[in-house]
Amino acid sequence: MTSLPDWSPSSWEGKPATQQPAYPDADAVRRVVGELARLPPLVTSWEIESLRAQLAEVAAGKRFLLQGGDCAESFADCDSGAIASKLKILLQMSLVLVHGMKKRVIRVGRFGGQYAKPRTQDGETRDGVTLPAYRGDLINRVPFTAADRTPDPSLMLRGYERAALTLNFIRALIDGGFADLHHPEYWDLDFVRHSPLAAEYQRIVESIGDSLRFMETLAGAQVGDMNRVDFFTSHEGLHLLYEQAQTRRVPHRAGWYNLATHFPWIGMRTADPEGAHVEYFRGIANPVAVKVGPGMTPDRLRALTDRLDPQADPGRLTLIHRLGAGRVAELLPPLVEALRGRPVVWCCDPMHGNTGTTASGVKTRRFDDILAELELAFEIHAALGSHLGGVHFELTGDNVTECTGGARGLAEGDLTRAYRSQVDPRLNYEQALEMAMLVSRKSTLLENRRGNS
Ligand code: PEP
Ligand code: CO
Repeated sequence: MTSLPDWSPSSWEGKPATQQPAYPDADAVRRVVGELARLPPLVTSWEIESLRAQLAEVAAGKRFLLQGGDCAESFADCDSGAIASKLKILLQMSLVLVHGMKKRVIRVGRFGGQYAKPRTQDGETRDGVTLPAYRGDLINRVPFTAADRTPDPSLMLRGYERAALTLNFIRALIDGGFADLHHPEYWDLDFVRHSPLAAEYQRIVESIGDSLRFMETLAGAQVGDMNRVDFFTSHEGLHLLYEQAQTRRVPHRAGWYNLATHFPWIGMRTADPEGAHVEYFRGIANPVAVKVGPGMTPDRLRALTDRLDPQADPGRLTLIHRLGAGRVAELLPPLVEALRGRPVVWCCDPMHGNTGTTASGVKTRRFDDILAELELAFEIHAALGSHLGGVHFELTGDNVTECTGGARGLAEGDLTRAYRSQVDPRLNYEQALEMAMLVSRKSTLLENRRGNS
């Protein structure tokens, strides 16, 4: 992508910017942004271009996108166990999808920078005291004290460092063969053996092992390209100063790259075509995504697409719809129709339109609603001659109890046992794996139907 004449990494400052922290000390902010801008990048332009080429194949129906991770990463959870288990669950899910769909899968984590959260209310009131809402570890801290809730610019540096530590470990694991398809046993999470899904997962692993050995016998060598898998990072590009500071030119390529992540997305609350976030995103060369919520109209979606992807470049723009199981059938078709003929990637986030609160006030999501929205999304796209190219989940490799349902039948009463998310409820390891199995079954059924008709 070439540079736009009327754009710079800070041109967003001339537009209305919502969801930005109000820092009390402007000099401190300037110092931090200057320092961030000098530190080395977290990812490279050639990785970003490789992802973009792979997303173009998703747009053409040849690959599938799997994106997932925490709602909000926390600095405290930057440890080897949590990082490895996130990689493991994404790897296991992708195996299940590859096996069922017979397509290559792009794995994108919501990690290495998913530290800033949009909030519906700027403030939070407890016992008559109002303080700024918690906006993620990149901005302020969870405890309800004035000192903790005041936005602190030095947290941007701490966030960059945590992201770097996370990525460093992920890259080392992958280089060391952790993601080698010959050894899926490395990815077993502790309780895979006790899961109601263990037998089905084991069958899939064995079948993939057999196929690999078969290919290798035919080729008379190891299938080099197949034993390693790629991983990409993504986060919501919410905090524009943080994103701007890591937006760079690189040698031998045109344009500006956000080198803090491969694949940033614009959240639902900041997707105003005239707003600061869209202004920032339109000028970067990365593939970008936008969340599409129930308030989106076909006209607005066209305006957004024209701003973010005026050249209609395959792989440039992914639309992540999150409409809710109850409304997707009514809201999705006009949006898909509005972009007919444009090479966008359609992805479904079945989490954010299906959040509810239990009678005792716990934020949760039902497994069946999540699955229902996904299944409807597959059907609606297929019926319109479009196709669902990817799925976006909030999940964890740990055995938390935040969403109800799934093979183990988690009930509302179980939620308090291991509820750890500071923000939205995530699928736990077993629910995530089950979801991948059901998604792959649904997509295979549809493909077969398409093939037979
Ligand atoms: C999120 O992905 O955590 C999120 C806040 O989503 P949305 O912008 O779709 O509400
Ligand atoms: Co969330």
